[in-house]
Amino acid sequence: MPLLFKKIKDLRNFLKSKKCEGKEIGFVPTMGYLHEGHRALIRLARMQNDIVVVSIFVNPTQFGEGEDYERYPRDLERDLAVCEEEGVDIVFAPDVKEMYPKGYRTKVCVGELGNVLEGAFRPGHFNGVATVVVKLFNIVQPDRAYFGEKDYQQLKIIEEVVEDLNIPVEIVPVPIVREKDGLAYSSRNVYLSPEERESALAIYKSFLLAQKMIKAGERDANRIKEAIRKFIEKHPHVKGIDYVEITDENLKPKETVEKGDRILVAVRVGNARLIDNWKVEV
Ligand code: PAF
Repeated sequence: MPLLFKKIKDLRNFLKSKKCEGKEIGFVPTMGYLHEGHRALIRLARMQNDIVVVSIFVNPTQFGEGEDYERYPRDLERDLAVCEEEGVDIVFAPDVKEMYPKGYRTKVCVGELGNVLEGAFRPGHFNGVATVVVKLFNIVQPDRAYFGEKDYQQLKIIEEVVEDLNIPVEIVPVPIVREKDGLAYSSRNVYLSPEERESALAIYKSFLLAQKMIKAGERDANRIKEAIRKFIEKHPHVKGIDYVEITDENLKPKETVEKGDRILVAVRVGNARLIDNWKVEV
């Protein structure tokens, strides 16, 4: 079983001794309810570091009003079992008061990237993410930290935060992990009924459709985005599409599509809001 820490001070004391021994620390920040996507992050961290720390904390400051903070799935026992299977050394699972004691004041305010795509629909979300991630980095002081490309915008923003605030950590991106039928793993997939899950597959299928258009020579981003929208919209249980965007690898919108660009979508299916993205091949 991994060692479980709930207090910042205890974790810090323990890690200090490991650092003194010259051990390299790999860190996987999560909100728990671990799935194959998290396992991929942990496995890479396990391969590249002496000590692997996983944090499990459903961070209230990154949820807006009316979002799913209360109902976000939580199961620490199950997560500990996953961490044990993956050879994690340490799990850090603080409660909200430990991370945000009464009177907590300071926030990290991210740049313009925090206001587009997800940020346009979830105001303040990325400030909440950046705040907790910087706190976790300060607590764990890892050599490397692992972030999934499923949350591509989050990954790019964390890279900016680390650069801008001179945080001495290497950010390691990890490709999206999909189920056999193409649905990207997400803790929020538990909100989907079997019928809704079937409709959610439209997201992956729309990427394949876009990819086919691109392979056939289409380069006009608007036409590709329109085809994606039309395809997703016709599926039952799809309540709405928040955005379909095509950007370069740094999230700058594109008009003409090239290799390495990203197609990013957010779709509401049943009671779930799903985000996904695709790296363009030509
Ligand atoms: O990606 C997540 O699970 C969260 O946004 C993170 C990075 C753990 C911060 O709460």
